Amino acid sequence: MTIGIVGGGQLGRMMALAGYPLGLDFLFLDRSTDTPAAQVAPTLVGEFTDRKLLRELARRSEVITFDWENVSIESLRALGRSASIAPPLAALAMSQDRVAEKKLFGKLDIPTTHYAAVDSQASLVRALRDIGLPGVLKTRRLGYDGKGQAVVRSIEDAWLAFERLRGSPLIYEEFVPFDYEVSIIGARNRHGEIVVYPLNRNLHRDGILRLTRAPWGAPTLQRRAATHLRRILEHFRYEGVLNIEFFVRGGRLLANETAPRVHNSGHWTIEGAATSQFENHLRAILGLPLGATTARGHAAMINLIGRMPSRNAFIGDDELHWHDYGKTEREGRKLGHITLLERTASRRDARANRLLRRIDSASAR
Ligand SMILES: Nc1ncnc2c1ncn2[C@@H]1O[C@H](COP(=O)(O)OP(=O)(O)O)[C@@H](O)[C@H]1O
Ligand SMILES: [Mg+2]
Repeated sequence: MTIGIVGGGQLGRMMALAGYPLGLDFLFLDRSTDTPAAQVAPTLVGEFTDRKLLRELARRSEVITFDWENVSIESLRALGRSASIAPPLAALAMSQDRVAEKKLFGKLDIPTTHYAAVDSQASLVRALRDIGLPGVLKTRRLGYDGKGQAVVRSIEDAWLAFERLRGSPLIYEEFVPFDYEVSIIGARNRHGEIVVYPLNRNLHRDGILRLTRAPWGAPTLQRRAATHLRRILEHFRYEGVLNIEFFVRGGRLLANETAPRVHNSGHWTIEGAATSQFENHLRAILGLPLGATTARGHAAMINLIGRMPSRNAFIGDDELHWHDYGKTEREGRKLGHITLLERTASRRDARANRLLRRIDSASAR
């Protein structure tokens, strides 16, 4: 049985690696074979909008899924009813547009940041007046790893950012002086079964995820985040894995954004949970029973960004799990990650800090 995946990045690669033990095969579609996924599975080469290739992918696959959320909905919709696609395109459409996303949060009673859509000078003036400073001006679409956004601390900042980003529809959000950030990941299958992972605490550097620690304490936060996640999963009669990122401020959750796919903040589940997010995504889109999400200890996941440190200096450590995506080095690019497991949260936190420093000095050389 073959799973068709649009996008052959590291997420797709890790899906394939999780699916082989289940007896699944994989077929990718990407612009080249110079991708992390092409090293582990066959890849159809062409544009993501190529109808002919998408039809071939559909014909050869049991179900089509994707490893990034900016795939073309029109092209996937054109496949018609003959193709089975999961997660649902309606959820994909929502998460492609930051304004649609925020509207859904509102509709489902999920607290989120104050915002206004900005598509002209007049609407920017109104947004600044209604929401105030500081704020963040972002493109509504196609943003990732902090790209396509600017923090706005003054009226001058606002106009400079507007000049830089104009041409795309924008959103202006209040700047949330958060205490920290968390995310929650869960899966739903077509039978309505839902599983939710322990909460992730996330630290970003230059807009890119740097460190995730899970499980992250606070049972009340976990319960509330899981309730919000369930609401979205049920709203779309969702099939697959879904992620929501939140700001935490004074013990309250404010939803920031969703990802209708496996997520970087869930990479620790490969070694750190009873069933990984990648395996649960596959189970969910195939309508199989979902696996337990129980943590196997206290995990920290550190992204390896820009430069790949030398593996041999690290992999001798206990319960340190090395992941190299096979990409060429480039500034700001996610090249791999490390997951470490400890018996207690405090040991994990101390070890994660030491490891971050070691990686920084190994990458600086
Ligand atoms: N309104 C905001 N207030 C404060 N920080 C923000 C805000 N929006 C984004 N950020 C910071 O920038 C990071 C990336 O922004 P996000 O909206 O998640 O975009 P993406 O992950 O798609 O690049 C967030 O995780 C957070 O650290
Ligand atoms: Mg984000």
